[in-house]
Amino acid sequence: MTENGNHDQPHIKSGQVKIREMEIDDIPKVFHLGEELFEAEGLKNLYRAWDEFEVVELYLGDSEFCIVAEIDDDLVGFALGTTISKSRSAWKYGHLIWLGVAEGYQRAGVAEKLFHKFHALMIDDGVRMLIVDSQAENHPGLHFFKKMGFSNPIEHIYLSMNLTGEQQHKRLYRAKKGKLVKKK
Ligand SMILES: CC(C)(COP(=O)(O)OP(=O)(O)OC[C@H]1O[C@@H](n2cnc3c(N)ncnc32)[C@H](O)[C@@H]1OP(=O)(O)O)[C@@H](O)C(=O)NCCC(=O)NCCS
Repeated sequence: MTENGNHDQPHIKSGQVKIREMEIDDIPKVFHLGEELFEAEGLKNLYRAWDEFEVVELYLGDSEFCIVAEIDDDLVGFALGTTISKSRSAWKYGHLIWLGVAEGYQRAGVAEKLFHKFHALMIDDGVRMLIVDSQAENHPGLHFFKKMGFSNPIEHIYLSMNLTGEQQHKRLYRAKKGKLVKKK
């Protein structure tokens, strides 16, 4: 870390970063790297959870759009995405769902390489519009996406309602009802 709080830029020689399709043996490595990256406050996705199922489902459903970055055989980054076709629309959308680079390898162009590969895969698949989403406070992520050419950010507002109270009420009600039925 430098004095102004920035991470020192890692020295990575060009050609050292290998981008390849994700393989089944990469699943645990991708999962654990994502756990380190997406657990940080401000990086949690509000409507998708980073868990084993998410990685496995994306890999099984869209393995051609799941790619990883390696440096000297170490997995240092990943990009996981999918495509979306809407009925009554000729447009096919590409969604880059998760993108991550291990902290020690950030600011060395790894995500840029992953993104260029992902972009090429999308074009080959007939995608006409790429979408990404990010928490408003994820400044590195937003800087990155803007640098890659994303524009027109649209703000979404997420509202939440805590239903645990209602669930408890339902459970109590069911339990009471059960006792009454037994007494009869
Ligand atoms: C966002 C992220 C993927 C970028 O990975 P990276 O490999 O460091 O990115 P690159 O080195 O390819 O950066 C390319 C450009 O993006 C921008 N950028 C990347 N990280 C940045 C940061 N921390 N602050 C400001 N701009 C940044 C810069 O313009 C950079 O070019 P430059 O280094 O020549 O200035 C990485 O920070 C990360 O994994 N963050 C946590 C997970 C996340 O937020 N993912 C995105 C949402 S799913």
